[in-house]
Amino acid sequence: MCDDSMDQALVKFIEGMPKVELHLHIEGTLEPELMFELAKRNGVALPYKSVDEVRAAYTFANLQEFLDLYYRGMSVLLTERDFYDLTAAYLKKMAAQNVTHVEIFFDPQGHTERGVEFTTALRGIKRALAAAREEFGITSKLIMSFLRHKTEADAFAIFEEAAPHLDMIDGFGLDSSEKPFPPSLFERIYAKARSTGKPLMAHAGEEGPPEYVRQALDLLKVNRIDHGNRSLEDRELVIRLARERMGLTVCPLSNLKLRGIKEMKDHPLKTMLLHQLKATVNSDDPAYFGGYMNENFIAVAEALQLTREEILTLAQNAIEISFLTPEQKGMKTRELEAYVADQGRRSTR
Ligand code: HPA
Ligand code: ZN
Repeated sequence: MCDDSMDQALVKFIEGMPKVELHLHIEGTLEPELMFELAKRNGVALPYKSVDEVRAAYTFANLQEFLDLYYRGMSVLLTERDFYDLTAAYLKKMAAQNVTHVEIFFDPQGHTERGVEFTTALRGIKRALAAAREEFGITSKLIMSFLRHKTEADAFAIFEEAAPHLDMIDGFGLDSSEKPFPPSLFERIYAKARSTGKPLMAHAGEEGPPEYVRQALDLLKVNRIDHGNRSLEDRELVIRLARERMGLTVCPLSNLKLRGIKEMKDHPLKTMLLHQLKATVNSDDPAYFGGYMNENFIAVAEALQLTREEILTLAQNAIEISFLTPEQKGMKTRELEAYVADQGRRSTR
């Protein structure tokens, strides 16, 4: 192998592997080029002169610095077509990266507070998801997130707006500034969300302490934890997460860009696998953090020297902790096994 950084065969293996993405904010896929295009189309003024200037602004000391730009970026999303174009661009990239199923978040409060109707965002995103099912065979779930920097009353208000459209929504999440907004603030809206019978998840342990992960489990009764990195500081919690086979949707490039870790080689993903946690690889806000699914897998595999087996465990974990039916999960597992068998045949040829 002449490459001194990473085994190119492993890169190809990752790129070709059928993958499932479970932690993706659709508003975080807004690439600077599209941001400019939509700004022009909608007559929105941007505080940047060029695409390069936008990219240059993307260095963050923490989650809040990123969120400030993330919410500012959203200002160009006004019409149903804008949400369609945003989502379609992401799904086209996922088709090219062999991603076959996605479970994506949207932040309706980030739009309604700007005067954009809940249904404008919802319909645009859903139409693009349906088109990608037709064109690429990509299946999907759409999860609406509550913004934790806003009040409980605000969360109830957006739930009421969503209520007539629950047939178009597959689950509920909690995102935005983690500290100082513990999950306990949202116990009652989660009880209401739970009454729909749909899956629940919450961002916890990204910047917040292990206690926030415990609250997400005990008070919000989530089916999945988004991030969960800081759980590793609490031995009892790690044992519990493993015992309960609780899914963690981990986002390596996000953790690096938001300074949860200093270098990728400090990433806790390998430790999570060693503790038998159901960890997965995801991209979070790829337009802001420098990479989609393949780039996240490759960056973390290289830095932590992950084996093919560990990479497959991550891919299989994503199938297991997805909100697909048992039959669909079985199909995805067989698809992954067929890929591995085919790769084996190629390497012995
Ligand atoms: N963390 C919390 N909230 C978010 C993020 C994130 O990485 N991206 C969009 N909303
Ligand atoms: Zn996130």
